[in-house]
Amino acid sequence: MKTKPLENKTALVTGASRGIGRAIALRLAADGASVAVNYVGSEDAAAEVAGEIGKNGGDAIALQGDVRRTEDVRRLFEETEKAFGKLDILVNNAGVALEKTTPIAETTDEQYDRLFAVNARGTFMSLREAARRIADGGRIINISTTIIRMALPGYAVYAGTKAAVEMFTRILAKELEGRGITVNAVAPGPVETDLFNTGKTEEVKQRMADMAPLKRLGQPEDIARVVAFLVGREGEWVNGQILYANGGMA
Ligand SMILES: NC(=O)c1ccc[n+]([C@@H]2O[C@H](COP(=O)([O-])OP(=O)(O)OC[C@H]3O[C@@H](n4cnc5c(N)ncnc54)[C@H](OP(=O)(O)O)[C@@H]3O)[C@@H](O)[C@H]2O)c1
Repeated sequence: MKTKPLENKTALVTGASRGIGRAIALRLAADGASVAVNYVGSEDAAAEVAGEIGKNGGDAIALQGDVRRTEDVRRLFEETEKAFGKLDILVNNAGVALEKTTPIAETTDEQYDRLFAVNARGTFMSLREAARRIADGGRIINISTTIIRMALPGYAVYAGTKAAVEMFTRILAKELEGRGITVNAVAPGPVETDLFNTGKTEEVKQRMADMAPLKRLGQPEDIARVVAFLVGREGEWVNGQILYANGGMA
């Protein structure tokens, strides 16, 4: 019988109740990994993801936890290890964006603090925990954004949080030397999810789709496939990199 590429591997995917994280959790499970499906508020949605994995013969648990809180992050790792025995794959996907583009001059303290708390601090806390306990040979993926390359006006705070994420990625890859662990980031272009759709008209969405030579918006599964490559055996030689997955728009 042919074994699945991630057979006997375990994964924790943050923000896996919806959007890109959901697709990543489903894909890693389809590839054979046992998956912890993290969420902060969407209990039913996370249970649905774990349920779908179970229905397809996989192994999953839903875990509530706010990545802004150090103790929650620690508990997510503990509960994943308790359920599956170890942690091989971490995907730091949980993230938030502003509801609409906001120039620096109009950005509030609250907007700045909220985005940095989830996207930068949350990712950092999770990376710190992973650095201490992920299994040798493990895989760590962070989610950045193509906006970094485009430096789009109105996105300073969001792009700033992801610039931090990209630097954490490159430095942790070096700090974990000798343990067979890779650390990479995937930087999607626009992907049709709640985060992307919020506050955008159909016309704006079409304009963004047209910016990519492949002439469409990304779908969560497009990003999940890239993550599956990086965490699988075929991706082993890619380390400390930011992989832009955006249909060629930048
Ligand atoms: N969509 C795009 O166009 C795009 C492009 C580039 C990069 N990205 C990045 O891709 C990642 C996923 O985005 P998405 O579009 O899939 O977003 P989404 O559909 O809005 O889903 C966000 C996910 O993050 C979770 N989350 C939010 N705050 C959290 C917290 N404090 N602790 C734990 N989980 C939290 C949410 O959980 P609940 O359901 O419980 O709220 C949800 O599962 C983000 O890092 C985003 O910045 C997205």
